[in-house]
Amino acid sequence: MDSNLLLCRPGFESDCAAEMDRLSRDAGLWGYARAVEGQGYLLWHTPQQPAERIADARPVFARTGWPVLDAFGPLPDNRIEALLALLDDVEPVDELRLEHPDTNEGRGLHRFLKRFRRPLEAALTRQGLLKPSGRERCLHLFFTDSRHGYAGVSEGGRAGPWENGVPRLKLSAQAPSRSALKIEEACQRLMNPDERAHWLRSGREAIDLGAAPGGWSWFLASRGLRVTAVDHGKLADGLENEYPVTRVAADAFTWRPPSPVDWLVCDVVDKPARTRALMEQWLGRGWARLALFNLKLPMKQRHVQVEQLRAQLREGLEKSGLRVRIRAAHLYHDRDEVTLLVLPRG
Ligand SMILES: C[S@@+](CC[C@H](N)C(=O)[O-])C[C@H]1O[C@@H](n2cnc3c(N)ncnc32)[C@H](O)[C@@H]1O
Repeated sequence: MDSNLLLCRPGFESDCAAEMDRLSRDAGLWGYARAVEGQGYLLWHTPQQPAERIADARPVFARTGWPVLDAFGPLPDNRIEALLALLDDVEPVDELRLEHPDTNEGRGLHRFLKRFRRPLEAALTRQGLLKPSGRERCLHLFFTDSRHGYAGVSEGGRAGPWENGVPRLKLSAQAPSRSALKIEEACQRLMNPDERAHWLRSGREAIDLGAAPGGWSWFLASRGLRVTAVDHGKLADGLENEYPVTRVAADAFTWRPPSPVDWLVCDVVDKPARTRALMEQWLGRGWARLALFNLKLPMKQRHVQVEQLRAQLREGLEKSGLRVRIRAAHLYHDRDEVTLLVLPRG
């Protein structure tokens, strides 16, 4: 097929489609979306072009995506036999991913897919389809209901590390808030393993603007970073005593660090343009080398606004002589916001 299937948070299909439109045009391709608002996925068609040509694109609003081989369904009672027939000429894959939309109906398939996984994996192994390929190949079977869906294959880790594009993270009992999961997902999704090893290590210093009750500060401090947590609100009990965290009761928009630090993180809920200007100021003046922060999304044209803010930030930082990488994602743990990472180049 000439399509990519993209999974997103329900309600963000049109942003994902608008983004794919821009990415396709940038790649000199033409395409169009087939999507229903609220269904949690879309099909991006590229007639006359193989879907793989745009499979490298990493849209902010897609949690995962991959080229479609075929639609399937209605599957008969012996689903495995029918799927094996469909996959007859597929080359071996390293991993099977059973996926579904992040809707009430989609999540309702979880049990069925859990029971289905073992026998299907056994059948794929017997068929010689599931075995190390050395090419990070994943077979994706995306179910819209228990008998219909789409099959596809991704390669080279392009579909990201997680089934459904949803990280399996466990909240530590020591974490002061669920927000700790958000920064963990951001670090996993927006940094590669080398970057995590480089930046998330003991001895680094971080400022956390809008820190209370302290989930983000805890995440960084529990990895050995020294954190200054800026917030008029209180931090969770014990955070300052048990971890290298110091609280400063101050305004995030006017407080200045006494000396430059490695990390700036910011989870203050404010106008996105104001947050963007604050990040530009900190990085541009060399107060921090890396920034991780949220931008609250407007109600409409979310994709356009995110791209405008990203371009303004890049332009502002370039004027300060900084060469940066800016990565952004609408995380599983993000609702009406996106998370951005600004890394120095080189
Ligand atoms: C979403 S919460 C942060 C949650 C935090 N990241 C965590 O992991 O627990 C936003 C915080 O920003 C703080 N905040 C809002 N405006 C602020 C400002 N102008 N200066 C400092 N903190 C501010 C609020 O007090 C609130 O604690």
